[in-house]
Amino acid sequence: MTLASPRPAAGQTFEIRPFGNLGAEILGIDLAQPLNAEDFARVHRAHLDHHVVVFRDQRITPEEQIAFSRRFGELQIHVLKQFHLAGHPEILIVSNIVEGGQPIGLGDAGKFWHSDLSYKELPSLGSMLHAQELPEEGGDTLFANMHLAYDTLPAALKRQVEGLQAEHSYTATYAKPKFEGNWRPTLTAAQLAEVKAVVHPVVRTHPENGRKALFVSEGFTTHIVGLPEDESRELLAELHAHSVKPEHLYRHQWQPHDLVFWDNRSLLHLAAGCPNHLRRKLYRTTIQGDAPF
Ligand code: SIN
Repeated sequence: MTLASPRPAAGQTFEIRPFGNLGAEILGIDLAQPLNAEDFARVHRAHLDHHVVVFRDQRITPEEQIAFSRRFGELQIHVLKQFHLAGHPEILIVSNIVEGGQPIGLGDAGKFWHSDLSYKELPSLGSMLHAQELPEEGGDTLFANMHLAYDTLPAALKRQVEGLQAEHSYTATYAKPKFEGNWRPTLTAAQLAEVKAVVHPVVRTHPENGRKALFVSEGFTTHIVGLPEDESRELLAELHAHSVKPEHLYRHQWQPHDLVFWDNRSLLHLAAGCPNHLRRKLYRTTIQGDAPF
């Protein structure tokens, strides 16, 4: 008796439409179906070339989101366990919804420009957000192209930042005295031990496309190592103002069932927020990347 070999996944016909400077949408693909090697390679290439890709109208389950995310690497589990989707710790609920007096998800995720999990030794390669409930108004996500930010730095500033290192910490902004609208619970001692501050280069090289990118953010970077506090603060403010110039940005206006996949090695992102009385809920998976160099 011969065993039948598993049938390879059928190829899909889909279109990749760049938005302009940053981002592309991918139309006609169904991520509920496992992608064959050729289709996966096209999607992977689009992600590297455009840094943020938008898959429209994905009717996928949490399990399918997890399976697709795993094609890119190991998944990271967020330290705030209370906001994991029940039965699926790989999914972090990003939401402003409060039920029975309790937030069902992380309401302030992305309130400051950041690259996901840059406070870890192995920050995130990329993140996927799948829209579950969207507000009628607001709720956009903004992305800043940090390759472009590096490339367009004035020459003197480029020389100044070369070889510098910066500290990243989960507590940089989120554990400070409460800012308005902060729903983030205080971490336990065990959780704090999971998010010890780390040091990364201020300019990193993307391990797959070889391009340099600025790798500091208002959300998680506390200071530049070895600089006096005021100099460090001024330099970070200057780099931040340059990074988020309008010409470096893509603003994502969510459509129902969008799945957005961005590269945290190339981009910062920010949640623009929406009026509190409007419901917004998305599921996030986060893929582990390499140690920045
Ligand atoms: C995030 O920073 O992961 C969330 C972004 C968003 O809610 O738009």
